[in-house]
Amino acid sequence: AKPLTVLKSKQMKDNKEPITVLTAYDYPSAKLAEEAGVDMILVGDSLGNVVLGYDTTIPVTVDDMVYHTRAVARGAGSTFIIADMPFMSYHVSKEDTLRAASRLMKEGHATAIKMEGGAEIADEVAACVRAGIPVMGHLGLTPQSIHMLSGYRIQGKDEQSARKLLEDALALEQAGAFAVVLELVTEPVAAEISAALSIPTIGIGAGRGCDGQVLVFHDLLQYASPYQPKKFVKNYANIGATIHSAIEDYVKDVKNRRFPAEEHVFTSAGAGTASGPV
Ligand code: KIV
Ligand code: NA
Repeated sequence: AKPLTVLKSKQMKDNKEPITVLTAYDYPSAKLAEEAGVDMILVGDSLGNVVLGYDTTIPVTVDDMVYHTRAVARGAGSTFIIADMPFMSYHVSKEDTLRAASRLMKEGHATAIKMEGGAEIADEVAACVRAGIPVMGHLGLTPQSIHMLSGYRIQGKDEQSARKLLEDALALEQAGAFAVVLELVTEPVAAEISAALSIPTIGIGAGRGCDGQVLVFHDLLQYASPYQPKKFVKNYANIGATIHSAIEDYVKDVKNRRFPAEEHVFTSAGAGTASGPV
């Protein structure tokens, strides 16, 4: 399939063709996502939780994002890559914002960036778009504001907060964002926003009315993700349990001298030289 573009993501919305997004954080996860045919790979700052072991995404740095985005870019082929702008990399000044965004593009080889927030960051979004950087917005539960939001709660439950979400989404579209993530938003509110916008919405825990869906790699695979189970996640595999038992078997085999066995051993001087496979 031809790689996704900003233009094509808009056409997919218009054609009611769901857009698939998955996070990835390194070469193998990106390669697997690309080979399985996801439309876009998100290098989420969720890597703070699932890869670096932090409690929140707040400690994630621009350096962390550049490092992981570069690794993803090596595995992603020509897949569209969005890299998260981490906490406080787009709130201090426009110079700061553009410098961080520039690093994700030039050093990380991202195709686009993502920022959390609505009308209050519209100027930052517009500045990046003016520089030729596609920007994805992110509304609803915005994990970088977890301490202001007082925990991981469903957003847009009352009329006032639902209206605020819609206004923020429209402000992002107006500022030039090419898409908006809606995280932990009730299904009717996410559907209303999706209908009001001409750019695609990508939902996570936001129901069936969004133009696309995104999941965290480690959640989808149950790959030692710290916050299982989550209602909005469908588990497609239990990789963590598979890895756990494989490592346990390895440890037992070595302890019991079942590994290495005869077939793993070089018994003659000629074996395993440059002339044959090791
Ligand atoms: O960091 C992340 O993985 C995200 C998605 C959950 C949208 O922002
Ligand atoms: Na994120």
